[in-house]
Amino acid sequence: MTSSSRHGRPPFDTTEFRKALGTFATGVTIITARAGDGTPIGLTANSFNSVSLDPPLVLWSLANNAMSFEAFRAATHWAVHVLGADQEELSGRFARRGVDKFAGLEIEDGVGGVPLLRGCAARFECRTASQYQGGDHLIFIGEVLRFDRDEAAPLVFHGGKYAHATRRDPPDMKPRSAHLAGSFGEDFLGYLLGRSHFRFFAQIRPFLDAEGLDDMEFYVLSTLTLKPLLTENQIAEGMAGVLDANRQRALDGLVERGFARRTADGYALTQAGREAAIRLISAAKAIESQVLERLGAGDAAILKTTLNRLLGVVDQRAADVLWEKDEGERER
Ligand SMILES: Cc1cc2nc3c(=O)[nH]c(=O)nc-3n(C[C@H](O)[C@H](O)[C@H](O)COP(=O)(O)O)c2cc1C
Repeated sequence: MTSSSRHGRPPFDTTEFRKALGTFATGVTIITARAGDGTPIGLTANSFNSVSLDPPLVLWSLANNAMSFEAFRAATHWAVHVLGADQEELSGRFARRGVDKFAGLEIEDGVGGVPLLRGCAARFECRTASQYQGGDHLIFIGEVLRFDRDEAAPLVFHGGKYAHATRRDPPDMKPRSAHLAGSFGEDFLGYLLGRSHFRFFAQIRPFLDAEGLDDMEFYVLSTLTLKPLLTENQIAEGMAGVLDANRQRALDGLVERGFARRTADGYALTQAGREAAIRLISAAKAIESQVLERLGAGDAAILKTTLNRLLGVVDQRAADVLWEKDEGERER
């Protein structure tokens, strides 16, 4: 490989260079300061890094063509906000040019009057210690004067996309293998999904018993909440592989109990059916939040994202048939 030229174009493809740099997963920060006239300024930056513990120093770099360039260059103080997993929208807002980035945000005044944002994983309030020109960016080194932090799961940026971070199991937590050689191990997807489903669902079952419903009737009842009316074909396709032979029996059971009615076009919930569904769904959501709280907000978000993607792979047809296409179609 040729060495990089000090002047002129780099001796390689810049898009590939960007992609290679993007393999380095980072957190996401928003850097804020005040312009000379007091206007709050800020931008999204993933060039943030720690430099030194004693003295406490951090760094980040700013593109020479950023609209906030002159104001940051002149600023004596600035603050770094490490974003949490739920702050992707805020990151997007501070990465856009020419918008009022602070509109509607509650801000506090930090050291040197720097505007501080709320709800972040950590905040570092800094004084500019030095600046270095580094190619098309200006590198800022700041001395940390004050910081705070929260237990929030971090927002991650990798390969040009936002991502989640999760802890890996410790090395001694290797999945165990079964007595029968060649049998399923503890990390077999079917085992993990199946056992989680049975154990999770066992907590919901007492609420079904109280309504006099069995598991299959509950599946059909909750499926009927997805649209105002489902045709027999939609129910058959949507339940395919989940409930085939018992589908009609479950539908008849719901009609008999007054929870669903048969129309010329298909099946719909009755008022009593809607009320039972709402009772059951709120009980199930309460159980879900207890389980997810124990798992932690970050891992809960990752689990849901991954399961959704898994369903997209193994069950795409049902998703197309059953779920509303957009918000506008939803029944008010
Ligand atoms: C995840 C992410 C990381 C970014 N990191 C930086 C960075 O480190 N330095 C930088 O100058 N711009 C970075 N940007 C781009 C700026 O946020 C963007 O250009 C912004 O509009 C600059 O604000 P301004 O032009 O209003 O000053 C990043 C954008 C994103 C989405």
